Amino acid sequence: MKGLILAGGAGTRLRPITHTSAKQLVPIANKPILYYGLEDMAAAGIDEVGIIVSEASSAIEEAAGDGSRFGVEITYIIQDEPLGLAHCVLISQDYLGDDDFVMYLGDNMLEQGLEGFVERFEREGDDPAAARILLTKVEEPRQFGVAEVNAAGEVVRLVEKPDDPPSDLALVGVYLFDPHVHDAVRAISPSARGELEITDAIQWLIDQGHRVQHEVLTGWWIDTGKKDPLLECNRLVLDTLEPHVDGAVDDASRIEGRVVVEEGAELRDSTVRGPAIIGKRTRIVNSFVGPYSSVADDCEIVDSELDHSVVLDGSRIEGVGPIADSLIGKEVEVVRTEERPRATRMTLGDHSRVELE
Ligand code: TTP
Repeated sequence: MKGLILAGGAGTRLRPITHTSAKQLVPIANKPILYYGLEDMAAAGIDEVGIIVSEASSAIEEAAGDGSRFGVEITYIIQDEPLGLAHCVLISQDYLGDDDFVMYLGDNMLEQGLEGFVERFEREGDDPAAARILLTKVEEPRQFGVAEVNAAGEVVRLVEKPDDPPSDLALVGVYLFDPHVHDAVRAISPSARGELEITDAIQWLIDQGHRVQHEVLTGWWIDTGKKDPLLECNRLVLDTLEPHVDGAVDDASRIEGRVVVEEGAELRDSTVRGPAIIGKRTRIVNSFVGPYSSVADDCEIVDSELDHSVVLDGSRIEGVGPIADSLIGKEVEVVRTEERPRATRMTLGDHSRVELE
């Protein structure tokens, strides 16, 4: 069994962050989203993982390296254009060979690991299914790829964003395939949006008489490709952190609840109310950092108030607040200056969004 993590794509829904970095490297509780997927693969006993990337020597390659840190061996597969999830399988055929594989969308996060899911696929007897997909119950199936399942638990039909959904079971971004999927991705044509759709490939397998099984997730699943789900995911993961303080906290500061203060971080005259994480060498001075906040490494939060937000490496926030429900990129400065106090002056990247009171 191999792994295939999809970490190419355009990332339009998470601009401007994705203009300069990959969304799969955005941290959740100060750890890149991609790492959770790699760790899940390793925990499920998968030791060879292919990662789809959009360019050679990418930041993703720099971050995940050869995979030894995670206990897996990583091979990078370059996808010149984001031509769809099934296209990712098409270009990985040489790498995957005749192995079964688990395909994982690199910006998705699951509460439950992959072990049971992988194990049940591998344990199948004489008449193994060609694919096994993960589904989750959703309230608004019209916004998702939706599966119709028969009484025997087999998937009979998949539809993308249906007007009239056959069920409330949406496809989660994790799939198990045997090598028949290679015939499927070669047989299908691009959809109206110009992509080779994985739902079409799975439907092709069903239409050719192959069995496609499913499992319904028990824990949460989040597609972090947009700001609000990303903050939600950060919230869920922060709730599971083991609190510890490795940085310096002065006597005038307070730490309340589930809080991680990483090595080299400094809290002065401040309160951090958990669940929250403060990254390495980050300084929090005369500030309040509220629940469900992650502040990455080398940041400065001075005379400010921050709540339910994710701040990436090297950013500085001074004299502002309350800031809430925000995603702040790397090396961003949000500061209040004394001069011309009535004006808001900004240097914002393309597709930035600022909501002012
Ligand atoms: P999506 O989030 O569906 O697509 P996207 O990354 O292009 O984002 P947006 O819709 O905001 O423009 O992709 C799911 C995952 O699969 C994500 O980690 C990117 C990856 N992917 C590829 O690697 N190659 C592709 O061709 C596509 C479409 C996605």
